[in-house]
Amino acid sequence: MQRREFLALAGVAGAVSLTRPWHGLLNAAATGVPAVGRAPLLFPRVVSPAALTLAARVHEVEIAPGVRAEAWSPGDGPVGPTIRTRTGDTARITFENGLPEPSILHWHGLRVPEAADGGPRLAIDSGASYRYEFPVIDRAGTYWYHAHPHGRTGVQTYRGMGGLLLIGDAAEDALGLPSGEREIPLLIQDRRVGADGVFAYEPAMHEQMEGFFGDTPFGNGVRLPTLEVATTTYRLRVVNATTSRILRLALSNGKPMTLIGNDGGLLPAPVRLTQLDLGTGERADLLVDFSALKVGTRVALLSAKFASPARMGGMGMGGGMGGGMGGMGRMGAGGVPQGGEMRLIEFEVTRAVKPMPWRAAKFPSIVPLDVSRAARTRVFRFESAMMRHGINGRAFDMERIDEQVRFGETEVWTFVNDGPFPHPVHMHEVQFQVVERIGGRATLMPWERGWKDTVLVFPGERVSVIATFDRHRGRYLMHCHNLVHEDGGMMMNYEIG
Ligand code: C2O
Ligand code: CU
Ligand code: CU
Repeated sequence: MQRREFLALAGVAGAVSLTRPWHGLLNAAATGVPAVGRAPLLFPRVVSPAALTLAARVHEVEIAPGVRAEAWSPGDGPVGPTIRTRTGDTARITFENGLPEPSILHWHGLRVPEAADGGPRLAIDSGASYRYEFPVIDRAGTYWYHAHPHGRTGVQTYRGMGGLLLIGDAAEDALGLPSGEREIPLLIQDRRVGADGVFAYEPAMHEQMEGFFGDTPFGNGVRLPTLEVATTTYRLRVVNATTSRILRLALSNGKPMTLIGNDGGLLPAPVRLTQLDLGTGERADLLVDFSALKVGTRVALLSAKFASPARMGGMGMGGGMGGGMGGMGRMGAGGVPQGGEMRLIEFEVTRAVKPMPWRAAKFPSIVPLDVSRAARTRVFRFESAMMRHGINGRAFDMERIDEQVRFGETEVWTFVNDGPFPHPVHMHEVQFQVVERIGGRATLMPWERGWKDTVLVFPGERVSVIATFDRHRGRYLMHCHNLVHEDGGMMMNYEIG
């Protein structure tokens, strides 16, 4: 199998002006390269957090062989390196902000002290650096990190300020999961690349309501990625790092995949399914078996077509928008609408090998939290109106503490969506269990078992989750992870004290 590491164009980066990115260079470089050619998937460099510096900068990267674009990312690649660690380790990470504006990194899904959580209040100026130190206490799982400054999380993450953060532990080791070249990190994004090589991010008015949708899928910062595979089982560690897109993961041949984990690590048991939905911020740990395929076969991991859950009308935003409306006029200029099909990555079977079938072993059990023992229930309404997004009628205020939670208690939080857009609701500092969904889809999905930190709430739904706030005291965030909504104010502070 060919594993390609793109060259870091370090020598060029110093010459790139922060405000005027190398106009013309892309066109010259792209000569002879088909505009929509696919590119080998990049495996980001794997790093340990034991003594790590993540230096964010604006630099020129290859998004396909010979095709360059301007990324904002930590390190040399088009997205950040893959951080690999184990439960019980200590992370000592220095973030250097070489971006032309304030930034900060957040470790999504990890339970860390407030000072290490990386919310907007901790953002540092351009040129400054920030030291994180925290013990890794979470279970083995597929976590990630991304920029989280006030009002700029969307654009920075979109341009490359994100990466995977994989935790391992003994329970996971015992399962003998595919590893090495059969373990594929996959940070999925959708972007629009302008003719000037800049990842265009200028949400129009209607996009400031529904969300921002790219026209092209990226995997680990590579445009239209492909991967050569052998006739055996692979483990895909998928992060939905899009700005606003719900991914309906499915194989183009319709064959089932095995879901073994989600946001907070391994499920209590593996699940076979032909498709699953991931909102922005959610993760899927999937086994895909190519052993029945012949050499030469191509199969794609899709975001399969679906009817957008957005409900238009009554918002005074005019017509002609929204994925549910066909979206013909939006292709190109406006990106692929919510629910439009995207071929996220193409797998090409190039080698026959003796299959290494993976047999389900015993998964670590998960004890359900008892709703009858919750100290209280809080209700949060997610609302959008007039270009503003808020929770319980308020837009985010960095300094205001919206909810006080008592340390050590277990609570039920109910997310209510009577508005027109789906919301992937995320809580910092806890992993929760999804208790129930009333209205809308009216059921819990098989991929919503186990521990999660982000859950999709469609229009018309009330989704309840249960969590115990017993790790750290301090101020944390709860917000919609549609980054346009988050930046638009759909976020609040809660304090555990
Ligand atoms: Cu990925 Cu505040 O979150
Ligand atoms: Cu988070
Ligand atoms: Cu939202």
